[in-house]
Amino acid sequence: MDVKMIKIRQITIASLFLLITISSCYYDKRDELYGPNKCNTAGLTYTKDISGLVNQSCAGCHNAANPSAGIQLHDYVSVVDCIKNGKFVGSVKQDGTASNMPKGGSKWGNCELSKLDAWIQGGYVQ
Ligand code: HEC
Repeated sequence: MDVKMIKIRQITIASLFLLITISSCYYDKRDELYGPNKCNTAGLTYTKDISGLVNQSCAGCHNAANPSAGIQLHDYVSVVDCIKNGKFVGSVKQDGTASNMPKGGSKWGNCELSKLDAWIQGGYVQ
């Protein structure tokens, strides 16, 4: 083996080492690894995927009899209206653009927020 070959081999080994070192520092995030499999965001509809969430989490304080902040979230039309005109998304993402919702309750999980985004991007299928 000549000197050139030895150098190439050394460089190869060094590169491999570097690669392994860098890749072993990769930080696996549970959501990124399993999120798409466990959280189904395909073909969502209001009736099937969103209404239950909103009814349970929001409608108690945002209905016709008790529209907190003048907002009703009790059916398809009222929810779509609020999302299009209002602060719905910011409030559930708790990103500082609106009051955090659900008020006094726990924040929606990543899967629920992903579903909301996917449903909105899908064009608010009823
Ligand atoms: C326990 C009662 C309660 C629940 C549950 C609740 N809200 Fe509210 N919501 C309020 C009250 C009271 C206000 C007005 C005061 C405020 O902004 O904090 C409000 C305000 C809002 C606003 C206006 C925020 C702003 O900054 O102007 C939005 C949007 C909203 N709620 C959406 C939701 C959504 C979406 C849910 C379900 C995830 C929800 N709310 C659940 C009581 C509630």
